[in-house]
Amino acid sequence: GIELGKLLAQTGYITYDPGFVNTGATSSAITYIDGEQGVLRYRGYPIEQLAQHSTFLEVSYLLIYGELPTKDQLEQFTSRVNRHTLLHEDLKRFFDGFPRDAHPMPVLSSAVSALSTFYQDSLDPSNIDNVELSTIRLLAKVPTIAAYAYKKSIGQPFLYPDNSLGLVENFLRMTFGLPAEPYEIDPAMVKALDLLFILHADHEQNCSTSTVRLVGSSEANLFASISAGIMALFGPLHGGANSAVLEMLEGIKAEGGDVDTFVNRVKNKEKGVRLMGFGHRVYKNYDPRAKIIKQTADEILSKIAGGDELLDIAKRLEERALSDDYFVERKLYPNVDFYTGLIYRAMGFPTQFFTVLFALGRLPGWIAHWREMMTDPATKIGRPRQIYTGEKQRDYKPLSER
Ligand code: ACO
Repeated sequence: GIELGKLLAQTGYITYDPGFVNTGATSSAITYIDGEQGVLRYRGYPIEQLAQHSTFLEVSYLLIYGELPTKDQLEQFTSRVNRHTLLHEDLKRFFDGFPRDAHPMPVLSSAVSALSTFYQDSLDPSNIDNVELSTIRLLAKVPTIAAYAYKKSIGQPFLYPDNSLGLVENFLRMTFGLPAEPYEIDPAMVKALDLLFILHADHEQNCSTSTVRLVGSSEANLFASISAGIMALFGPLHGGANSAVLEMLEGIKAEGGDVDTFVNRVKNKEKGVRLMGFGHRVYKNYDPRAKIIKQTADEILSKIAGGDELLDIAKRLEERALSDDYFVERKLYPNVDFYTGLIYRAMGFPTQFFTVLFALGRLPGWIAHWREMMTDPATKIGRPRQIYTGEKQRDYKPLSER
């Protein structure tokens, strides 16, 4: 494949593939997807098994280092991550510079980008010890940054991490806890969030991961590359879809809960109306992650929120769409984001924050891909080609003659 590509480039032929629908930019041993069958495996392990038996930190280790950890390895990894959860006091001041109603995704991306200024060892990504430290720092500090972005938006004081807690517990406490009051950790919420993080942890060459790889291919450091990946995830066609789904469901509810009218608007391709949380570039079958989430959504929502009217609308919407030719012909099924927003909302997160939760989950995948790329001898700087369609050649006209 590579040799053929080189040969074609020499002869002046260019593969025109907008959106890289069928262009392989790399080989990778991290995640396997069979979109036709709806199969997802991390390092060979089926997502269903990981969802049932593993934890987010263990899955992070698996994605980054390639194998499930032994007990000792997991303990060491966990304790290293725990030791790095604090943010530099000066970094905390960054949050004051943003408007209070700032969207938390650019705040997260900016703070991650700023990590390069605090940890300058990261600027030499050719040194594996530096990469290792940046890896641990990211896994540890991104949840703290995310919690502080939330606290800033609601005008509450920041809480220092409590390293006697697990990663998800700590994140929930820093997000929802108050300094003077003990925060009671709800085990159902911890389990649900840990599961959602596992399901989001990697998805091979999606838009944000490809962004991380493209930025990293110039040998930009891990913090810079991941900060760019966070911004790619921000868009409503990618990570922003989980917020968009909830807005869509609330819109349907406000209009009386009529899913037929909404589906007809989608089918008529009214400007800006899509069935959010449906469709996927790779899955032409039920997204296996959505299947797992749907199974647990009922259970989680009844435990946390005592049932949910929006869940009912979502289920009716899904049923209606899956029996409609428009969706059947185009192989449009629910994707991972169709049900996640409902769960996040029930946990108490505001809609704008949903995409931040996606970023927390996707973090180990981004790190794993950046590291794989950096150690792959086939890596070259990413530099797509184009078909030029502009003016052929023209002569410069002085301002007075235009
Ligand atoms: N609602 C209605 N129609 C849709 C939808 C949808 N959600 N998704 C695709 N279609 C239609 C398109 O209009 C197109 O129809 P046409 O052939 O008549 O023009 C056909 O299905 C193919 O769609 P494309 O846009 O070509 O598919 P693509 O692979 O480029 O897009 C995407 C994939 C962006 C995910 C798309 O399905 C979409 O916009 N979905 C809604 C947003 C969403 O849920 N994004 C989350 C994706 S998963 C993730 O990032 C975690």
